[in-house]
Amino acid sequence: MDSSIQWGKPQARPILMIPGPTELPWPVIQAMNQPPTIQYDLHFDVKVLEPITLALREVFQTPRGEVIVMPGSGRTALEAGAVSVIEPGDPVLVITAGVFGALMREIMTRVGAEVTEFSVEWGQPIDLVRLEREIERVRPRAVTLVHNETSTGTTYPAAAVARLAKDHGALFLLDTVSSLAGLDVRTDEWGVDLNMTGSQKCLAAPLGMSLVAVSPGAWEAMERRKHKAGSFVYDLLRWKEQWIPTSRGGQVPDGAPRRQPVSIPTHLTAALGEATRLIVEEGLPHRFRRHAVAGRAFRAGLDAMRIEMFPEASILSDTVSCFKAPAGLETAAIVRTMRDRYGILIGTGLDKIRALTLRVGHMGITASPLYVLPTLSALELTLRDLGYRAEAGAGVAAAQAIFSAQSA
Ligand SMILES: Cc1ncc(COP(=O)(O)O)c(C=O)c1O
Repeated sequence: MDSSIQWGKPQARPILMIPGPTELPWPVIQAMNQPPTIQYDLHFDVKVLEPITLALREVFQTPRGEVIVMPGSGRTALEAGAVSVIEPGDPVLVITAGVFGALMREIMTRVGAEVTEFSVEWGQPIDLVRLEREIERVRPRAVTLVHNETSTGTTYPAAAVARLAKDHGALFLLDTVSSLAGLDVRTDEWGVDLNMTGSQKCLAAPLGMSLVAVSPGAWEAMERRKHKAGSFVYDLLRWKEQWIPTSRGGQVPDGAPRRQPVSIPTHLTAALGEATRLIVEEGLPHRFRRHAVAGRAFRAGLDAMRIEMFPEASILSDTVSCFKAPAGLETAAIVRTMRDRYGILIGTGLDKIRALTLRVGHMGITASPLYVLPTLSALELTLRDLGYRAEAGAGVAAAQAIFSAQSA
């Protein structure tokens, strides 16, 4: 029986420093506190859905594209994207550098793609020369990449990979589940055809909405299909027809209510709308800088505690830190102790690095001294409880130095 004080207990819930779902801004929580409305009501359509769709185009940096918002999670967006543009037998090159690259490979296999996997060692950079040779050899219909591999805490060069895909006439499909609204994702400028994400990470909205930004090139690919997509609900072309006004290329007469290919959850949409409003109000450059500084501060804290990062230094993510547990300590015990004794939940690694690594998300509102400093402090206390010694307070001090240098 653990007789130590469980500081986290009276909180009733731990603070979420896992890599999503993440903590929510108060106005986002409040946006859900309302009676039900009818999802096909013109008021909801005109006053809620349309402004959110337009604001999300800013967040996705896609003035030329359309953002489709559907119930679901990141995986819903990935599957909707894949099933909509890929026909059975299409060659697809899937870059895998962790758990979520492998997820895309599974989805592509299920939609019948002829998958070629371009496997990257976990935590290591992509060899772009070798990638280009592989694209030349396979001549894929689409290339897929996970921008920010949440399982290893790495960010991959989406702009460079997009360029290779475009140079060879392939569509470029990008998973931005743990990067959009935290890292700079330039959908149109880079040439991303399908930019697929979920609501619960850097967007700082509740889990439950799935978002896909679709480029004009991706619509063309859908329109040129020989056979209809094998999904009724997730066929994005059906969404285009039922969702997008005629003035923007869809089939909904301007000013008329859109039809809903699947009923849209009104409470989650309201929360996503509030989250989007807050992002636009903050401004993307400020938001990206905030995530960059928070990521750097957290890593400086780890370094001062003599904790090593898992990935190679050149591709460290600013939204998710994946680091090695001190030798001899069990990752699950660290997570449990930190949650129960100190009230902060972090994540273990995933899959084959579960026992080796820990993961912390600094996303949305948690990319801030308000969350980063207590997390480092609780981690230090936890490690000390479990027998690991670092210089007292060194982690917090190092992170503070980064934060205060930014305010100078
Ligand atoms: C990079 C990445 N892709 C896909 C997913 C799957 O998203 P979801 O859990 O929202 O279905 C995740 C979830 O963590 C992720 O981090």
